[in-house]
Amino acid sequence: MEVTRATAALVTGAGGGIGRAITLRLAELGANLTVVDTSEAGGTETVRLIREMRKPEAARAIFVKCDVACSRQLAQAFTVHMDTFKRLDVCINNAGIAGELHFLPQLKAAEHSKGGPSLMPAEGRPWSRMIDINLKAVADGVRLAVECMEASTDLSSEAGKSKRVIVNVASAAGVIPFPGSPVYSATKAGVVMLTRSLAHLQKDRGIRVCAFCPMFIDTALTRSGGPELEKAVISLGGFIPMKTVVEGIMKLIMDDGNGGSVMQLRPRKGAFYTAFGEHAVPDLQAHHSEIAPARPKPRGTMRPASGVSSQQAMMAQTFPAQFRKVVVTQLSADFRKATSVVSVPFPPAVGQGKVLVRNVFAGVNASDINFSAGRYDSVPMQLPSDCGFESVGRIVGIGKGVPPRSGISIGSAVANFRRGGFSEYQLVHAQQVIPVPEASPAMVAMLTSGLTASIGLERAGQMGRAQTVLVTAAAGGTGQFAVQLAKLAGNTVIGTCGGEEKAALLRSLGVDRVIDYKKENVQEVLKAEFPKGVDLIYESVGGKMFEVALKSLAVKGRLIVIGMISQYATGDQKNMKLSELKGLPERLLFKSQSLVGFFLPYYDSYFRSHIAKLHQLYSKGLLKVAIDPTQFNGVERVADAIEYLHSGKSIGKVVVGFASSESSAPSLRSSL
Ligand SMILES: NC(=O)c1ccc[n+]([C@@H]2O[C@H](COP(=O)([O-])OP(=O)(O)OC[C@H]3O[C@@H](n4cnc5c(N)ncnc54)[C@H](OP(=O)(O)O)[C@@H]3O)[C@@H](O)[C@H]2O)c1
Repeated sequence: MEVTRATAALVTGAGGGIGRAITLRLAELGANLTVVDTSEAGGTETVRLIREMRKPEAARAIFVKCDVACSRQLAQAFTVHMDTFKRLDVCINNAGIAGELHFLPQLKAAEHSKGGPSLMPAEGRPWSRMIDINLKAVADGVRLAVECMEASTDLSSEAGKSKRVIVNVASAAGVIPFPGSPVYSATKAGVVMLTRSLAHLQKDRGIRVCAFCPMFIDTALTRSGGPELEKAVISLGGFIPMKTVVEGIMKLIMDDGNGGSVMQLRPRKGAFYTAFGEHAVPDLQAHHSEIAPARPKPRGTMRPASGVSSQQAMMAQTFPAQFRKVVVTQLSADFRKATSVVSVPFPPAVGQGKVLVRNVFAGVNASDINFSAGRYDSVPMQLPSDCGFESVGRIVGIGKGVPPRSGISIGSAVANFRRGGFSEYQLVHAQQVIPVPEASPAMVAMLTSGLTASIGLERAGQMGRAQTVLVTAAAGGTGQFAVQLAKLAGNTVIGTCGGEEKAALLRSLGVDRVIDYKKENVQEVLKAEFPKGVDLIYESVGGKMFEVALKSLAVKGRLIVIGMISQYATGDQKNMKLSELKGLPERLLFKSQSLVGFFLPYYDSYFRSHIAKLHQLYSKGLLKVAIDPTQFNGVERVADAIEYLHSGKSIGKVVVGFASSESSAPSLRSSL
């Protein structure tokens, strides 16, 4: 929503700190404001600052002195606001207190003084008032705000376009336990759950309720936590500037479709919406196979949406009317040229046997441009086509007929290799998703990139231990896994990369010899430092790097052709289908084939054991030996025997006899 001169907002705790900062920002945008605070000095100062900043005909601001913990006073504040402005578009339930560092010591003292466990009267327990202000008043504020918003009249056509939003200012302590302030943490967690449980208001009444959970901001409230809190603040990244806080709250106000969402703000990570494990009461999920797109009710509606039972409303998630995805619209290895971002209608229902996944992260792969160029002829390509090979996300809808299966429930994290990972939502057959422990960037990296390294080295590479392993593009998506797995298996690992930053990463991953090809010649380094060659090569770059790698392979070495990234965007074969590729490595790769050289002398250590095995099978009659019946006796017949072999007439083994005392060569017939 947009904040304009037609917007009317009420902010509690606006006499200072976050409340004042956001109030001033709303005033800057032209909103009319009710400043609510217990402090007359603070509240009137905020109003003065607003008046100072605006010309008299612009935003109006009033101050209402009010203790939000007193439900009657709070209701009165909303009444004054409505009498003055006739409408409420934005309500910020911001008032809160902290500072209960003596929660446990005080409890102990009470026990000793009274000779048994007991609690002191409410006024002696700061946390009791904290619950009233931080939680009870927020619940009251939400209820009053909803009532006022629904009773609002449209003042102009511009205002008619506006939507309503309630922002409950909680804290990072509402999502992460704060051992130093357990009750504070509990009140803020209460606000978070209050907010999440009211997500359905967006769908039912067009009112978004959001929570804002910042880490430490330098305000009187955080300072009241004392030196222990200050120490904790420094260890957690320091105070967040007020400007960033205001930006976060403004984003919540302006982002449409975020009803029920919880935004966190951390010093190192910035602002982000929190992904929670479960979105609704789990044992009621079975009823929730239908998805209704979020269509806010018209303004001023007093009744809940027809046909929505209270039970459904309690579980209902808020889904957008549309979602966005990337589609290939024309074939090109230039991904940007090949694709467009499109908005598509949200599916009306989750089909039979399917789950709806809200993708949280998608993996980017070198081969995405092979796909957009239409090179995978095994994948029928009809334009426009969904793209993106992999994603991790959370299940947000379950269709009928999905059998109960561990890891498949609302909120479960799942991985998905279905085409179309570059999409905010995906409908997938329930059997095709893989439950995973978390929907994180690390998890999505472990999919294509991690699996290629893990399975490639083990199955195709037959990786052993105490060998030399070379990984090219070692600091990339899959290379990083290959170097670490090779190291964990007890090998000496060499990794190539281009650039110092990547080299530093590889050193930190334990790579024994990092070759930065921008500084050193890979072939020369390998020749000088690994003169016996490399036992196993995980080769991803192709072109010249493939040639260098092949030259550096040791006797009995194995080279796994993982890819040829250097050819994808610019190489000679960039317009070819994969089946048309002429190069040997390409042909091997795309059918997962191996081509293995074998030269017996290198296997002399196996001679004795294999001779024994063969003879044992022969003597038991399990192995037959075919000898060509043509007899060649004496050294002078050797040349004849060789010519005979090359004549193509011989059957079985051609042998020459020298010693007449030994039995002559058996005939083919007799041997068989
Ligand atoms: N066979 C399979 O099933 C399979 C599965 C996954 C990936 N792959 C292959 O593994 C390789 C790596 O894929 P990835 O997705 O993990 O990508 P990635 O390694 O993260 O790709 C980017 C890196 O590739 C290196 N590179 C070398 N020459 C390049 C060039 N001419 N243009 C662009 N980058 C170049 C660069 O690192 P440096 O400059 O530091 O070398 C670059 O940072 C690709 O060949 C891919 O096709 C194969």
